This record gives sequence, structure tokens and C-alpha cells, in this order.
Amino acid sequence: MAQKFLPLSRPTISDVTIDEVVNVLKSGWLATGPLCQRFEKELSEYFDGRTALCFTSATAGLKAALMAIGIKPGDEIITTSLTFAATANVIAMLGAKPVFVDIERDSFNIDPNKIREACTDKTKAIMPVHYAGLSVGLDPIYEIAKEKNLRVIEDAAHAMGSSYKNRKIGTFGDIQVFSFHPIKNMTSGEGGCVVFDSGLQKEKKTLELQRFHGIDRSIWDRFSKTASCYYDVVMPGEKSNMSDLQAAIGLHQLHELEGMNERRRMLANRYRKAFEDLSEKISMQEELRYSFVHSGHLFPICIRDKSKRDDFMAFLKENSVGTTPYYMPLHLFSYYRNAFGYKEGMLDNTEYVGSRIVCIPLYTALTEDEQDYIISVVKKFFA
Ligand SMILES: Cc1ncc(COP(=O)(O)O)c(C=O)c1O
Repeated sequence: MAQKFLPLSRPTISDVTIDEVVNVLKSGWLATGPLCQRFEKELSEYFDGRTALCFTSATAGLKAALMAIGIKPGDEIITTSLTFAATANVIAMLGAKPVFVDIERDSFNIDPNKIREACTDKTKAIMPVHYAGLSVGLDPIYEIAKEKNLRVIEDAAHAMGSSYKNRKIGTFGDIQVFSFHPIKNMTSGEGGCVVFDSGLQKEKKTLELQRFHGIDRSIWDRFSKTASCYYDVVMPGEKSNMSDLQAAIGLHQLHELEGMNERRRMLANRYRKAFEDLSEKISMQEELRYSFVHSGHLFPICIRDKSKRDDFMAFLKENSVGTTPYYMPLHLFSYYRNAFGYKEGMLDNTEYVGSRIVCIPLYTALTEDEQDYIISVVKKFFA
């Protein structure tokens, strides 16, 4: 029998989630409404009482967060190049400059030791990414931010359930942005949320206005029985409010997150053990430092001989295993070369990792038999 294709990722959606979506469909209210309010309340509880605002994507949340901290054309934001396009695109879309700082070769995360020297008088913020779900070194980053009066927006798209020194990402720091895209540890179909301290009232106002046309009242407020239907437009805004249909999915995914993450971590540990004897051929993201908890979002490996990466991915594909080179360094894409003058040779570790990295399947529904099959295909390639 032909081996069924094992994709890089697929979401696990429970029956109770499907029932909730059906309830919303029957309720007569599909846009932002009571389910979104409940989802945001439960997210806030999950993040120890901090404020959580939902968006249609992390991309929309990141852009609104940059606007909320007042990013203007000409400002510089320090970030990593080993990330998805969204991280730097939102910076560039606001007319600001993404300043790419090199990563650590073992963690694949931005190197905090190289941030200070990248700061100029135009630097306004640091936007680190918790790559694959391994937290970046937050203490040194917040130390630099404090010293230089910078804001920090953590791109936590991969980090639902990650922690740093026993503290859950999203429960401390400045602003965190999570993604609920279907590939992520939990999904709302598409979606994301921005998390911050309740004291940040000015930022909260801009985030709320940005996600709905700059209108000063939510639609739910305007369509309920007792409310007035009049509103004001106080700034031009986007249309990136989450729908109740999405919130219905997200709500139950949140309840199931810890169990799903436990399984991801168990599978990641099985990969690690199975590949121990391949250390001459591949390297893996470093073992956890301090008291980090990895969300197990992605399982990246680096093929030491970079000339073999394409063959490796083709071999896995021929054998029905999905892979992806997450991520090709952003600074080498044509837009970033042309707009900001980035070129090869500027970021040694990012280019080393970026030319060798491959992610292999990791998701809750992957069975141990399927994983054993993937391991056997990987081993066969290197035999
Ligand atoms: C690191 C990172 N940042 C931001 C995003 C954007 O997330 P979304 O698809 O929810 O907009 C992604 C999505 O893959 C990502 O991986």
C-alpha cells in the first residue's frame, strides 16, 4: 500500500470545537461579538490577567502594535532575518527600517550580544522572534531596552505555551504577538492576538481603533438592543477584527493547548533521541537552556553539508514526507536587498543556518508509527 503523505503540519480540531462553530453559525451573529469577548477574557486569564486583543492574524497584530508604540517612517527596529516575511514586512510597510541582527548558531534565535552595537539614535524598538518555540534570551534584551529606552514587541507567533525561566511567554515584558494560523500550536482558522499590561491604555486604544476602521465603538456595541448606532471615526484604521466563528475555534483550542503541546514536546524528544547518532550529518536546535519550555512548534534540523539540502527535501517528498526550509533569510530576498541594501555576507550565522535548515513534520495528530516512518526515511537518506 502506498504510504500516505505526511504533511509538515495539520491542525487537530475536536468535536466540541466543531459543535461550537455550528452554534455560532446558528446564532445569527458571525462577526466580532460575544464569542470574541469570551475568547479574549480566557486569553487574558491564560496570560495572568494581562490584556489580550484578538486580530485576524498575527501580521495584523504586529502592524497595529508597531503603530501603537508610535513607529514612524525612518525609525529603526532591530529584529532577526531568520523568520517569516511578516515580521519585517510590517516594519517596512510603516516606512521604518528592519535592522537585521545575526542569530546564535545553536539556538537559531537573535543573538542578544549583538543587539547593542546595532542600536543607533533612530532605533525605537526590538522585535525578537521565539523561533520554532524556543524563547530568545529575554533578560539581556529587556536590559538593553531599558538602558536605551526602547520598546520590545516579541513576535511570539511560535510561542503559545513556551516559557522563559519558568515564566510563560506573554505573562511578562512589553508587548507579545501570537499567531493562530492553522500551522501553529493552536488555531482559530486564521487569527492572532496582541498581549500587554493593562496599564498600557494609550496602546490599547490604538490597537482597538486599528483593528476596526478607526471607529470608536465595536460593532457588537452598536447592534445590541440598548446601544446607540452612532459612532465616530477618530483615525484611519484597518479591518482586522476577529470573527465569532474564529473565536469559537480558538476558545476550544486554548482549552486543549497544554495537552497538544505535551504531545508535540514528546514527539520532538523522540526525534532528538532518534537523531543523536546523526550528529556528523545534522545539527538540531540546542537543548533547552535555563528553565525554558519549548512549545514544540517546529522541528528544524540543519543539514551540515548544505549542498545536500535540496536532495534531502526531494528524497523525503518522494517518500511522502512534507518538509520546508523555514526560514530562508529575509535579508536576501529581493525587496530587502533593493530597499535597504542587504546582501550576502552580512549575517554569518543566519546565512549558515538559513542555507541548511529544513523543518520536518511535527503536529499533535502525528502517530508514533508515522514518526518512526519519518525517522527511517531520514536515516535512509544519510545511510
Ligand atoms: C515568526 C512569525 N511571525 C509572524 C507570522 C504571521 O502570522 P499570521 O499568519 O498569523 O499573520 C508568522 C506566521 O507564520 C510567523 O511564523
